[in-house]
Amino acid sequence: MKRRKITIIGAGNVGGTTAQRLVEKELAEELVLLDIAKDVAVGKALDLAQSAPIYGYDTQIRGTDNYAETEGSDLVVITSGVPRKPGMSRDDLLSTNAKIVKSVAEQVAARSPEAMVIVVSNPLDAMTYVTYKVTRFPRERVIGMAGVLDSARMATFIAQELRVSIQAVRAIVMGGHGDSMIPLPRYTTVGGVSVTELISKDRLDAIVRRTRDGGAEIVKLLKTGSAYYAPSAAIVEMAESILKDKKKILPCAALCKGEYGIQDLFVGVPARLGNGGMEAIEEFHLTSEETAGLRKSADAVRELCAVVDRMI
Ligand code: NAI
Ligand code: 2OP
Repeated sequence: MKRRKITIIGAGNVGGTTAQRLVEKELAEELVLLDIAKDVAVGKALDLAQSAPIYGYDTQIRGTDNYAETEGSDLVVITSGVPRKPGMSRDDLLSTNAKIVKSVAEQVAARSPEAMVIVVSNPLDAMTYVTYKVTRFPRERVIGMAGVLDSARMATFIAQELRVSIQAVRAIVMGGHGDSMIPLPRYTTVGGVSVTELISKDRLDAIVRRTRDGGAEIVKLLKTGSAYYAPSAAIVEMAESILKDKKKILPCAALCKGEYGIQDLFVGVPARLGNGGMEAIEEFHLTSEETAGLRKSADAVRELCAVVDRMI
């Protein structure tokens, strides 16, 4: 039987914690951690390998700066790039990260032509587009992570507001992973009941604002980088749904081909993730206000993609 192999590009905060969560769940037999800073990748891989006797996982972990070691990966997670510093927007990372992601995507296509790719680098929707264009993989195999993270942030604030178990809360955020993302209270439930029935409009508006600013709130506190615990948890939920064919419906950046009236653009929409990768985009009914918000968010992503189109 074929051994399952996962590669993580970028062994920084997100890459390192993602590797840890993946091996602790034993989602692959082999895991390769690649970074241009070779020693960091080798060091983190060694540290994780030395945790295996305590946790009991058998995943073989290697750190490297050599793409030959990534050959034939089933899943590749791209986290390489620079994170934000306080005062920066995700879009300020565009030109630096576009160059990095382009060079990474070329290597991924050459070494792992059958891989599923989860893109994480920011600005997320545009970097997912770069990966899609450069790898020329079908849309099913290129997916961006953001909606699961943004929805988790919204769910956290709602559970705290209502003092209920986080397990009772289901939240959903659509749109681009930027200031115009669309938290959807109408489709966000607690114990199956819409939060619009449970929380006042003022409080809900505050939760929507805090969700939109969720990444910046953490950057401001950390000062030297951005969030990584919740992002890595979000990546692993997507990876697990794909690798175990769970077919979860998760909000992620998927290439829309007319869904929600959006054409040829990666933007956050609910998608079914299974062995086939991004198997389908689920079309929820949106009000005219929600649709207008989604289109506005898509327009912001389109502007960034036009800029990267001139770079790749
Ligand atoms: P980090 O700075 O801790 O790690 C980035 C790593 O990428 C570094 O180790 C660096 O050496 C490596 N790298 C840079 N250029 C490379 C190349 N050409 N090839 C291989 N490795 C390379 O940053 P962190 O916190 O891990 O974040 C990584 C990226 O993920 C950032 O762009 C950040 O904005 C983004 N991010 C996106 C999230 C989302 O929701 N989509 C959530 C969290 C972070
Ligand atoms: C976040 O939202 C950095 O985009 C990342 O935390």
